[in-house]
Amino acid sequence: MTHDTDDTEDRVSEPVIRLHGVRAELGSRPVLRGIDLTVARGEVVALLGANGSGKSTAVRSIIGQVPVSAGEIDLFGTPRHRFRDWSRVGYVPQRTTASGGVPATVTEIVSSGRLSRTRFGLFRRADQDAVRRALELVDMTDRARDPVDALSGGQHQRVLIARALAAEPELLIMDEPMAGVDLASQEVLARTLREQVDAGATVLLVLHELGPLEPLIDRAVVLRDGCVVHDGPPPKAVGQHALPGHDHVHPHAPTGAEPLRTGLLS
Ligand SMILES: Nc1ncnc2c1ncn2[C@@H]1O[C@H](COP(=O)(O)OP(=O)(O)OP(=O)(O)O)[C@@H](O)[C@H]1O
Ligand SMILES: [Mg+2]
Repeated sequence: MTHDTDDTEDRVSEPVIRLHGVRAELGSRPVLRGIDLTVARGEVVALLGANGSGKSTAVRSIIGQVPVSAGEIDLFGTPRHRFRDWSRVGYVPQRTTASGGVPATVTEIVSSGRLSRTRFGLFRRADQDAVRRALELVDMTDRARDPVDALSGGQHQRVLIARALAAEPELLIMDEPMAGVDLASQEVLARTLREQVDAGATVLLVLHELGPLEPLIDRAVVLRDGCVVHDGPPPKAVGQHALPGHDHVHPHAPTGAEPLRTGLLS
């Protein structure tokens, strides 16, 4: 994947993502309370923090799904409200069960990620190849014709990742892409992500544990109550939870049996 661009606004030294003093309220509660976050070109940044600390809200503010009440957001050096080049951005939302209505096939879902790259929605050979490649990357080729509601949660998650990859984006934003994905598949995804990064992609990931992604992460930003409380090397303890033998407890499971968190994450 090459990322040439002739956009004059797009200076190489410009951060790919820049948030400055971003505030957001949801249901009259302050959720982001003055976030500063910069992601440079080619960087892989993990956004960490406890449940409810504002991670999803922060990434959703970047892609314009959450209104901000103060602060600035730039994408590729352009204020977000003027940014139009969304084919440069791939987004994997936090996992939902939403398929709804007529069940789409795996290929249809992944193809939808490629639409922004097509001319008038017409799929040419290059578009079909990109969809096929994305399915190969997440190891879902043999399920290409299946309806997505016949998939397991982790397989569904891999399809969402393939959808984001199909556009060959320069910036990948993923909200807990590893949630519910078994260790073997996490390793496949880590390898995929490594390839994207080697090809020049920039990545912002919301994570609960670094796991197999740990060697890829350049920097960690930790949120607590809507504020940045750490921005620097990934906190070491976070990697432990994904070691083989660790029973993953999904953070949303109402068991109260969350993995023990210490220091920055508690
Ligand atoms: N649409 C909404 N309306 C009202 N409050 C919301 C809404 N979305 C999120 N919130 C609140 O904002 C806070 C931050 O939520 P957010 O989803 O950003 O957290 P998170 O860090 O992604 O958590 P998790 O680890 O559970 O995914 C939470 O207290 C949540 O209840
Ligand atoms: Mg979240």
